[in-house]
Amino acid sequence: MVLLCVKMKYLNILMFFALSSAYEISELRVPLLADPRRAAELSCHFNMDQHRLHSVKWYRDMDEIFRYNPQQTPPIRLFNVTGVMVLNGSCESSRCEVAVRPAPVAARALYTCETSTEGPKFLIARETKLMTVAAMPTLDPVISGAPGAARAGEQLLLNCSADYSLPPADIRWYIDDQLQKPDPWDQTVISAPIEGGLRVSWRALRLSAAAARGALRVRCEAELPLQPPVRRDASANILVHTGTHPDKYVSNSGNKATLRGVLLAFTLNWTYQATCKIIRSL
Ligand SMILES: *[C@@H]1O[C@H](CO)[C@@H](O)[C@H](O)[C@H]1NC(C)=O
Ligand SMILES: *[C@@H]1O[C@H](CO)[C@@H](O)[C@H](O)[C@H]1NC(C)=O
Ligand SMILES: *[C@@H]1O[C@H](CO)[C@@H](O)[C@H](O)[C@H]1NC(C)=O
Ligand SMILES: *[C@@H]1O[C@H](CO)[C@@H](O)[C@H](O)[C@H]1NC(C)=O
Repeated sequence: MVLLCVKMKYLNILMFFALSSAYEISELRVPLLADPRRAAELSCHFNMDQHRLHSVKWYRDMDEIFRYNPQQTPPIRLFNVTGVMVLNGSCESSRCEVAVRPAPVAARALYTCETSTEGPKFLIARETKLMTVAAMPTLDPVISGAPGAARAGEQLLLNCSADYSLPPADIRWYIDDQLQKPDPWDQTVISAPIEGGLRVSWRALRLSAAAARGALRVRCEAELPLQPPVRRDASANILVHTGTHPDKYVSNSGNKATLRGVLLAFTLNWTYQATCKIIRSL
């Protein structure tokens, strides 16, 4: 009988653990990427089990940015720290949300939600997620200075400009899918920042249209150094004429030559017709 009682007691304890959900943070939502021109919303859901909530704290890396303590007035306190502005927040017994605006610099930081139960135990539950500050480009890069056709051996100066982004894009050029090593004087150039820390970048490509090649395909790739990287690209085709077929390549002098030919033919025909007239009339 005693044995049975003991067994029942263990069974109850087991049942208790199986049925009750533990005191824990059930869900932490932190955006992977945050645009500094907008507010980012972070949310934390917690399961208090049988415990009473004492406080909820949010941290950016090691700095406390937000505290909710229902026993205090006001229950919510915001702390501005380097790298983020805390806009507002709202909490209830099982969840806590906070809106932040990251500083306009490309940075990564860990955001932590930490809950504590009432004394004397003050049990702590904690979850952390990484947030990267970034702003995506809205447009593909643009290639300028690429002619539709070029003479063999002609020197070309192309320019690829990438749209505003944070961090600024790194630019790579490819000719016929071959990565072009940048010359020291043709590195990616980055503009001054605008609102949100966004910048444009551009890079020049000098190339000589080689002889005996039908066409060149140039491609420019703008890459944001994120994890994973974000890429956008643009391409252009350049037809290359080897000087042996001058009529295929329309230059100013070529046009003049054609015009001269037409005039000559016209003159000859007129002379011929006129001569025939004269002969017939004789
Ligand atoms: C945080 O900084 C912003 C902008 O400087 C300001 O409007 C806000 O009142 C500050 N909040 C706190 C809690 O200091
Ligand atoms: C912050 O305030 C804005 C408007 O005042 C509101 O739409 C938003 O839900 C609030 N965010 C939080 C987390 O309370
Ligand atoms: C390339 O384009 C950018 C604007 O997008 C301009 O500021 C820069 O001067 C151009 N560079 C060259 C070499 O044409
Ligand atoms: C000469 O001009 C006439 C009409 O003006 C045309 O019918 C003829 O084909 C031309 N001949 C040549 C050789 O171009």
